[in-house]
Amino acid sequence: MGESVIRRVVCPGSYDPVTNGHLDIIGRAATIFDEVIVAVGENVGKRALFTAEERITMVRKVTGEYPNVRVEAVDGLLVDFCLQHGVGAMVKGLRAVSDYEYELEMSQMNHRLSSVETLFIASDPEYSYLSSSLIKEVAELGGDVSVLVPGHVLAQLTTRMAERRANFD
Ligand code: PNS
Repeated sequence: MGESVIRRVVCPGSYDPVTNGHLDIIGRAATIFDEVIVAVGENVGKRALFTAEERITMVRKVTGEYPNVRVEAVDGLLVDFCLQHGVGAMVKGLRAVSDYEYELEMSQMNHRLSSVETLFIASDPEYSYLSSSLIKEVAELGGDVSVLVPGHVLAQLTTRMAERRANFD
């Protein structure tokens, strides 16, 4: 048998913003693989609250403790990014059955496009209800999301919500 072990993986997402649930998956991937590239991309189905640059800066800040994690922007197709960076597989978190259909579609499309594999890590049940979209909605309506996102992200979120409120006034 030759060297067939996957060493470098990508954790893709829009990370708008990065949550404790994302960090759980990134941290676990970082203990399994030699190198993890967090690929911050655009989801065409969602309108982002933070710019790509802001999202990348936040993810860099909160993954700083992992020496084998780096953060990059994805502009075009994720599979092209994987090929350019010599990545054999992408790693995604699965929170619940409701994630499965969407993730299955994407993984099959990505495999058809390029043979890049998708590996799934089951999310910690503590985070199974957590999503960036819900965090934004709760934060916008004044709810407490302080245990759901890293402190740095909470500060950014609070500032952005205050800016939005000021713009609407
Ligand atoms: O965190 P999200 O919003 O579920 O992440 C979705 C993301 C960014 C991973 C996905 O939209 C993506 O891969 N975008 C890059 C463009 C691309 O390759 N699209 C085809 C996906 S099959």
